[in-house]
Amino acid sequence: MRYLTYQFHEYRQRRQAAHRWRQLQLTDWANCSFHRNDYLGLSQHPQVIAAFAQGLSDYGCGSGGSPLVCGYQQPHHNLVRQLAEWLERDTAVLFSSGFAANQSALKALGALYDQLLLDRLCHASLLEGLGRRNWRRFPHNDVKAVRRLLKPGANLVITESVFSMDGDYAPLAELALLPTDLWVDDAHGIGLLGPDGRGAAALLPDPQAMLTIPFGKAIGVMGAALVGGRAELEHIVNSGREFIYSTAMPAAQAAAVSAAITILQTTEGERLRQQLQQRIALFQQLCQQYGIPLQASEHPIQTIVLGADEQALDWGKNLAEQGIACGVIRPPTVPVGTARLRITISALHHEDELKQLVEGMARCLIN
Ligand SMILES: Cc1ncc(COP(=O)(O)O)c(C=O)c1O
Repeated sequence: MRYLTYQFHEYRQRRQAAHRWRQLQLTDWANCSFHRNDYLGLSQHPQVIAAFAQGLSDYGCGSGGSPLVCGYQQPHHNLVRQLAEWLERDTAVLFSSGFAANQSALKALGALYDQLLLDRLCHASLLEGLGRRNWRRFPHNDVKAVRRLLKPGANLVITESVFSMDGDYAPLAELALLPTDLWVDDAHGIGLLGPDGRGAAALLPDPQAMLTIPFGKAIGVMGAALVGGRAELEHIVNSGREFIYSTAMPAAQAAAVSAAITILQTTEGERLRQQLQQRIALFQQLCQQYGIPLQASEHPIQTIVLGADEQALDWGKNLAEQGIACGVIRPPTVPVGTARLRITISALHHEDELKQLVEGMARCLIN
């Protein structure tokens, strides 16, 4: 793209001056790593790996095309049925990513509503590409503001069960009582919250509320589903461009996701959730002992808000030099002046690793 060289150079200089130039890193997972959303370690689970391997052997690597052209294979069908039963919704539609699922629903359904109301801290995938016409953002988790903003006609409230940059929870039960449709992105709740890890579905009495279920967090694989009522999902199958014009996830991947969901519903899943809670409690206790200023969160997403971008970068660099990897999150992902370390705890973290992390942060505090 030689005709854009100047634009690229200028953009890069601007981002670098603001400490916001991003670069991909080669990650050594043998390191003490606290930046993965694989909260229960299912990406490494032998049954999930075996299901993926068996799927590869049975169906090959790729699905071959768009789901409307090539159809679903048996593992896709099984996964759809499993999701609908587990989450007590009519049906599900599968996507290659949570980003694609959110974009598809936003574009295919969003335009039909008189008004969309989105929480101010909603993930980028719920905002990208929204037209100017019919949407507003409401102050974070403010149910009174939502009630005030509702208009006559069809409203859709869009929120997340757990907010990805703070680890705090949405007031889902209260939102579900409002006279509006509700759509909840359950990226960070599925597998962790509620009985059998059913996430937001267990917390929402209204089976009409639509859910986004990304598979790349506690489920440990990748891809996503929209799960909800038959009418809206049939509409998305017919008009959701990210669904229609994109290659379906491989059948092997669907088989791996199914295996992970099966584990979530067993006593092993329950044990992993309990183990995760123990690890979170230990981490919080160690932070208190060492005077690390953690934001309140019961979720494996734990954050230390440091303010200026440079300070967050310094902490990230200092920790990396000590062999510890964690997320350094800066604007525009979070509001200006709230750059932070984002630490994700996993059920598989050893106590020694948590201690190493907190001691590493204590060194950053002194420097
Ligand atoms: C709340 C939320 N929604 C959607 C996504 C996108 O999911 P995926 O990574 O499957 O595209 C993410 C990913 O970070 C997320 O945190």
